[in-house]
Amino acid sequence: MLVKDKVAIVTGAASGIGRAIAEALARAGARVVVSDISEEGGHQTVRRITEAGGQARFFKADTSKPADNEALVAEAVARFGALHVAVNNAGIGGPLVPLGEYPIDGWDKVIAVNLSGVFYGMRYQIPAMKAAGGGSIVNMSSILGQVGFRNAGAYVAAKHGLIGLTKNAALEYAADNIRVNVVGPGFVKTPLVEKSLDAAQLKALEGMHPLGRLGEPSEVAELVLWLASDKASFVTGAYYSVDGGYLAQ
Ligand SMILES: NC(=O)c1ccc[n+]([C@@H]2O[C@H](COP(=O)([O-])OP(=O)(O)OC[C@H]3O[C@@H](n4cnc5c(N)ncnc54)[C@H](O)[C@@H]3O)[C@@H](O)[C@H]2O)c1
Repeated sequence: MLVKDKVAIVTGAASGIGRAIAEALARAGARVVVSDISEEGGHQTVRRITEAGGQARFFKADTSKPADNEALVAEAVARFGALHVAVNNAGIGGPLVPLGEYPIDGWDKVIAVNLSGVFYGMRYQIPAMKAAGGGSIVNMSSILGQVGFRNAGAYVAAKHGLIGLTKNAALEYAADNIRVNVVGPGFVKTPLVEKSLDAAQLKALEGMHPLGRLGEPSEVAELVLWLASDKASFVTGAYYSVDGGYLAQ
């Protein structure tokens, strides 16, 4: 029970990696606010958690809207009494187009969700964690927070930005006992990847990971759970890969 009785928010928890993180936190004893724009998927995550004996609530929030982030934190505190853990996981892939032709509205949307959304989240999570005496924030970057990937300029820029944002938050709030870290998965088997790529492209992606396969959402969740827990008590401002060796090349 690594996070027993802690109160956690997970954004983008209706699907994929976020769902696996919410389930892992709940299995480890946390009370989890499952948040997403997708109500159906969010309620499904909550059902899966409660059927397994865990505690969770769904709260609909669009992370690209500051007021939704404020309301989400308020819900966690009102419902469960405090906020100790936040996983800023919600993200979108965006258009796959070279920068010289990249749609302006696509750029704005990817930056709004994948970068500004994480700032808005922390903007309201941090005061609540200060009030609780400390906490742990885990932001979801990517291998594409460290290297480029043709035609994914907005995604790459946002995911690089998250690493700097995480370092700053870690520096500014270390004295308040708030740890802030960022995770960089390689390609993981989720709807985000499977929807946007065909079988041949997926096969080629597998070959780009030295372990010869894509990751599983649960393999990312294990790392996030550790960072969220007191086991990682001396870890802050750090980028952790969970990428099958992608960045070792
Ligand atoms: N799958 C991968 O290969 C991979 C690799 C590295 C990083 N990531 C990152 O992991 C995170 C989760 O991705 P995933 O693969 O599980 O994708 P996914 O599409 O399965 O899940 C993303 C979830 O985020 C939600 N979401 C989208 N926009 C939102 C918004 N504005 N507000 C709230 N929720 C919103 C979606 O409804 C969905 O439930 C993303 O940040 C993604 O960039 C994914």
